[in-house]
Amino acid sequence: MKIGIMGGTFDPIHNAHLIIPRCAKERFKLDKVVFMPGGNPPHKPGVTDKRLRLQMTRLAAGNEFDVCAYEVEKEEYSYTLKTLEYLTAKYPGNEFFFIIGEDSLRDITKWYRPREILRLCTLLVFPRESRETLARLIEKTKSELGGRIFAIDAPVFNVSSSEIRRRVRNGESIDAFVPPSVAEFIKANNLYAEVTALNNGEIISRLKETLGEKRFIHTMGVAETARKLAERFGADAEKAYLAGLLHDCAKSMKTHEQLKKCAELGVELDEYSKLCPPVIHAPLGAETAKREYGVSDEEILNAIRRHTVAGKNMTLLDKIIYTADMIEPSRDFEGVGLLRSLAETDIEKAFFESVKQSILFNIKENKIVHPASLESYNESAPKYKNKT
Ligand SMILES: [Fe+2]
Ligand SMILES: [Fe+2]
Repeated sequence: MKIGIMGGTFDPIHNAHLIIPRCAKERFKLDKVVFMPGGNPPHKPGVTDKRLRLQMTRLAAGNEFDVCAYEVEKEEYSYTLKTLEYLTAKYPGNEFFFIIGEDSLRDITKWYRPREILRLCTLLVFPRESRETLARLIEKTKSELGGRIFAIDAPVFNVSSSEIRRRVRNGESIDAFVPPSVAEFIKANNLYAEVTALNNGEIISRLKETLGEKRFIHTMGVAETARKLAERFGADAEKAYLAGLLHDCAKSMKTHEQLKKCAELGVELDEYSKLCPPVIHAPLGAETAKREYGVSDEEILNAIRRHTVAGKNMTLLDKIIYTADMIEPSRDFEGVGLLRSLAETDIEKAFFESVKQSILFNIKENKIVHPASLESYNESAPKYKNKT
């Protein structure tokens, strides 16, 4: 079988990415073309998460092309040669055609072991500048490296992923450049748009719409309590208020929706969080605060992320949010009085007792105790050990 491989970052995938392999398929009689979205390159921190790029690629490929998640699923960034070695080992007896752009061919000598790449596949190159410059470049590369390199007879497309990102940022339409499913996905996931930080009033109105009444009252209670605790114990009161406002911003979704969104946004969940769905809203909440509410402060995002299971080395802000969540005025459970009175004078002890009560509650209910909670407890327990 003749298999074309269309590699790329696909951030986002666009119409030219689809037309080029169609041209290649027809001209070189390929049996199929497989899209291979790349992992997150270490030198390009601004690249959209690989799972989101994979999903966009799948949407665009539809039933027409295959999509291979090999590079996305690999932990480390994959060199083209490694990917080709994987493919030739996995699908022996097939002929591989690697589709690249003129600009990539120009850089091929900088790739990892280009001669070996050319031993494993035929390169099919589409023009980026002009057909003439491409023809000259192919001749030059062949004389230097050998191998089979052919031009794809496609027009030079002006569309580029960076231009699409720019259009989204500026609120311009991208409908002419990407398939409708990709345009919808970009919109639904708020990709490429500059997320402007909302002010507290805007956040409160949005929370009021999305959280139920009871949770909204709880949220406002946590925010106010967190602000007071921050003022009392010398943390940043505004950060505490904002973290309090957003700590449960992802909690109104159902578990299956939360899991779906975590997968889409690349929020990684440990095995315990999967066994105990009520904790998922914390890491998902941090990602939501970042993407949908424009929060970029890592201290705030961490406090949101850690507010359900706590952990080792909690910062003062983390402890304040955790404790405020337990003691805000609408909370009513046995033991809350002790926590409230401790929080008047000693945030460390109030936090420790809050974690302890939470662990004991879970044990009483035969629920899973997250190891991070135990780590948090163990870190402080020696300090409060009862003297007998
Ligand atoms: Fe929560
Ligand atoms: Fe809460």
